[in-house]
This record gives sequence, C-alpha cells and structure tokens, in this order.
Amino acid sequence: MDYDIKDISLADKGKSRILWAALEMKVLETVRRRFEKEKPLEGARIAACLHVTTETANLMVTLKAAGAEPFLCASNPLSTQDDVAAALVKHFGISVFARRGEDNETYYRHIRSVLNINPHITMDDGADLITTLHRELKEQALRVIAGTEETTTGVIRLKSMEENGVLLYPVIAVNNANTKHLFDNRYGTGQSTIDGILRATNILLAGKNFVVFGYGWCGRGIANRARGMGAHVIVVEVDPLRALEAVMDGFTVTTSMRAAERGDIFVTTTGDIHVIRRDHFQVMKDRAIVCNSGHFDVEIDKSALSEMATNRRTVRDNVEEFLLPDGRRIYLLAEGRLVNLAAAEGHPAAVMDMSFANQALCVEYAYNQEGQLEKRVYDVPLEIDREVARLKLQTMGIEIDSLTDEQEEYLKSWSIGT
Ligand code: ADE
Repeated sequence: MDYDIKDISLADKGKSRILWAALEMKVLETVRRRFEKEKPLEGARIAACLHVTTETANLMVTLKAAGAEPFLCASNPLSTQDDVAAALVKHFGISVFARRGEDNETYYRHIRSVLNINPHITMDDGADLITTLHRELKEQALRVIAGTEETTTGVIRLKSMEENGVLLYPVIAVNNANTKHLFDNRYGTGQSTIDGILRATNILLAGKNFVVFGYGWCGRGIANRARGMGAHVIVVEVDPLRALEAVMDGFTVTTSMRAAERGDIFVTTTGDIHVIRRDHFQVMKDRAIVCNSGHFDVEIDKSALSEMATNRRTVRDNVEEFLLPDGRRIYLLAEGRLVNLAAAEGHPAAVMDMSFANQALCVEYAYNQEGQLEKRVYDVPLEIDREVARLKLQTMGIEIDSLTDEQEEYLKSWSIGT
C-alpha cells in the first residue's frame, strides 16, 4: 500500500480519537450500515482532498464500507492530524498522503499521488484537486464520473470553471445543501474558530473588541459565538443586505478602517484577498490579534505585515509576533491559515456528521448517475438534504409533528380567505 505520512507510531492514538468522533456521527453511521450491506460503490476509486481529521477518517471508512477504494490527501498544509493519517493507514487500510506542516511543493505532490489512481470520483474541499486535474491531467479528467465539493470557496471556483466552459465532469456542491451550510458553516465555524483562537492564545474574550470580516454563514456563526463569550462584536461587510442583517442582529457595523483602530481580535471569513492589509496594520492597537477562518491564507496580507515588521518571532504554538517600527506588536495566528483547523481540530463531529453524510450520499448518487449528468455544478438533490435532516433528528431522539389531512388540504387551497 502506497502512502506518505509523518509517523506510523501515532496510529493507536489516532484510532482512539477516530472512534471517539464516531460516537457523535450517528447519521454517517446509519449510512455506513446500509453501505456495508448494499455495497453501492463497489470498485469505485475515490480521490479525496479533504482536511485529514477524525471526522474525515469516519467518512473514508464509510466509503470503504460501501466497496470503494478511497485515497486521501490534505486540503490544507496545516490541518492534517498526523495521528489520524497514521491510523487510517495502519488500522483501516486506507492510503493517505498528508503530513502536517508540509510545504507547498509536498502539498501538490500529495495531490498528484492521489490523482495517480485514475479516480472514478473526486472529492474536494476548496477545489485544489479538481483544478490540478484539469490543469495537468486532462485526459484523466475526461474519465472521471463525477466530483463533490465541500466548501463555499470551492463552489465559487467550480462555478467559474463551469461559466468558462472548462469543467470536464459534473460536480455536486455539497456546501449548498441546507443540512451543510446552515449548520457546518454557522455552528461549526462559529465554535471551532473561537476554539482555535482560545487554544492558540488563551486570552479572555469577555470585554474585548472582536472584529469579524464577512457576514456570510461562517461570519454569522463566529459573531454569535464571540458575543456569547462576552465580546463586543464589530462586523465589517461589503454587501448592504448582509450588513443590514448584522445591524439588526445587534452588532456594530462599520468600515474596515474604523474597525482596525478599535479591534483587539480580528477574524477574516470573506473568501476574498487582502481583507486585512497594510493600511489596517498601520492603525491597529498594540497587541492586536489577527487570524483567518476563510478557506485560503490570502485574506490577511502577510507579505505587507512581514515588510512592515522590524522583527518577528514565534511566541507560542500558532502565535507569531510582528514587531512594528513604532513598537506596536501584532500577533498573527496559524500563519493566516484556517485558524479553526490549524490551531484546533476543525468543526466538531456532530456537525461534520451532516456534512459528511451529504458527501457519502452524493457520491453514491453521482456514481449511480454515470453518464446522465451534464458537465455542470449541481446542488445536492433535495431528497438527500431532507433525508440527512430527518436522520439527524432521529438519531438525536427528537420527534416532530406532521400535518393533519385538514392542514394539508388547507395549504393546497386558494379559496379560503378571511
Ligand atoms: N472542515 C471544518 N472542520 C472539519 C473537520 N473537523 N473535518 C473535516 N473538514 C472540516
């Protein structure tokens, strides 16, 4: 079996943590039980580029139970949990190509290792695998049945490929399922971002000015959780509707320059480039903390910060101090990469349960639809989205009502008014 991981001796620890996460992933377990019996993915080679976490491990095990051969590489150089990578290789017989802290060259070498299997299905978190395949291995791309994409940034890239007419096979935008983004992006990012900041810094949030850039589902989650910890939350947003929502949700909304002067902690989650830049660093307070929870490490202009600094040093794991000429210190967390995955463990299992049940069911759906889908980006079929919600409630032991016949009838009628 081919693999490239940091340390196989970590495998037992990884296995124990994977099984711990499994306790919170009951929807995926339900899917896995059916997959074990029906083997719907028999013979499918799956190339997956995802964060190598305990939750992803449970997804890989589920795909294998369905008869597939999954191969995994990392979707971020800093998010790999080396014990999980080791456990997947040693205890679950799954090929993994990922080492925490790998450089860019190794990151792409690992992506190519996974693509070398000539996959039937690709799974992405951020679209690095599919874009590499389209750029470098076009012939292979033409043989892929379908792909899935986990995150907002990846879906945006794929839509651009579709619009430019270069997408060579259908992809299902798992991110767009309600049972994904309304929960994973909001509650998952909300909790895990705060977790990453606290693990890295151990600072008190109560009473701090906490600036969130971007009020999408991730931004909403982070803002709400920071408020819950007693921080004064300031939102920076460019979209008028979202900005208005933030105002009416009770947050202070202002421009990035005003926020830069006031903030103690800054988190970016916009999906765009250089959201925090030189002008902002110039007016920040001494000891401002900056971090990113958007997919790529482009949101904070790290080059500008390096150029401005007279000295830089690591003061704690995942905390780098940049000393500016006037004596102010700015602290950058996790090299500006996803702070929730680099400084903590990513979203908790209970929320990844829904995201990854969607992934597993979408892979099954796409594999069954071979040749019938167009070279487009598809939303998750509504039946899958609803089934994941139903199963989540069921596994949480929560019952809900159904409509009476009279209520059904009423909703269909137009004649009854006042
Ligand atoms: N993305 C965010 N959190 C994650 C996790 N725990 N596992 C895999 N991908 C993630």
